[in-house]
Amino acid sequence: MPFRLDEQIVLITGASSGIGAALARGFAAAGASVVLAARRLDRLEAIATEIRASGARALPLALDASDPKSFSALFDRVEQEWGLINVLINNAGLARPARFLKTSDRDFAETMRLNFEAPWFLSQEFAARLIAAKRSGCILNIASVLALGSGPGYAAYSSSKGALVQLTRSLALEFTRAGIRVNALAPGWFVTEMNEHWFATPEGQTYLQSTPAGRAGQLEELIGPALLLCSKAGSFLNGVILPVDGGHHVALK
Ligand SMILES: NC(=O)c1ccc[n+]([C@@H]2O[C@H](COP(=O)([O-])OP(=O)(O)OC[C@H]3O[C@@H](n4cnc5c(N)ncnc54)[C@H](OP(=O)(O)O)[C@@H]3O)[C@@H](O)[C@H]2O)c1
Repeated sequence: MPFRLDEQIVLITGASSGIGAALARGFAAAGASVVLAARRLDRLEAIATEIRASGARALPLALDASDPKSFSALFDRVEQEWGLINVLINNAGLARPARFLKTSDRDFAETMRLNFEAPWFLSQEFAARLIAAKRSGCILNIASVLALGSGPGYAAYSSSKGALVQLTRSLALEFTRAGIRVNALAPGWFVTEMNEHWFATPEGQTYLQSTPAGRAGQLEELIGPALLLCSKAGSFLNGVILPVDGGHHVALK
């Protein structure tokens, strides 16, 4: 059963909606115990209730991923409840598209803090604990096709995701002999709270039709690739940046 994650404890940030919620459901269905973390605890509790009804274990925990000082307490809490976290999915993220000269200092700082610094500090907390316990594990970073190319209005977002890609590669090298693999998904467009207003417009629809696949991805289409990178099926995959985009990265300029 190489794609199973039985007895794995998986922390997913940004699990209250969109890609994070889909990954939480998919990983729970593959046997994992899932820790759902984000700011909207009510949303996490509803998803956790649904997952528990399917027979899997789910633990909803409030987290502001832009506050690294809170990370240690979150890991302590999971260890008290269930044990050491084996898989970290750095998924929480934001996008505030704006032309470079119109991007506010605040939007730039908040984009970097959530999309890049949060994975940085969460990975430190995660790996330090695993290495001290001489245990193996896996980090999955949710990057973006906009880490591989860019577009007008995406300087801050693309830069943050590009930095996340380089963090993925750096940590893959540093941790490989400690038994911690570090990979990333680079999703193309998926309709979530982050972009649903844009894709509801005629311009948004026209844009989607202009992409190689002519459509957005379905959230379920991310689950198989994520399981591959985080399970025994991908035991020799390390430092991989895997586009899941219907071929969009091929057409990026
Ligand atoms: N949708 C796409 O087309 C696409 C494409 C490529 C990559 N991505 C990446 O996929 C990831 C998930 O995005 P999504 O599309 O699923 O968007 P989404 O539905 O807006 O989800 C974003 C998640 O991040 C959480 N979050 C935001 N600020 C947070 C904070 N300070 N602390 C903790 N959690 C926080 C949100 O939860 P709370 O508000 O409850 O905190 C939410 O669960 C992001 O990293 C995004 O960049 C998305």
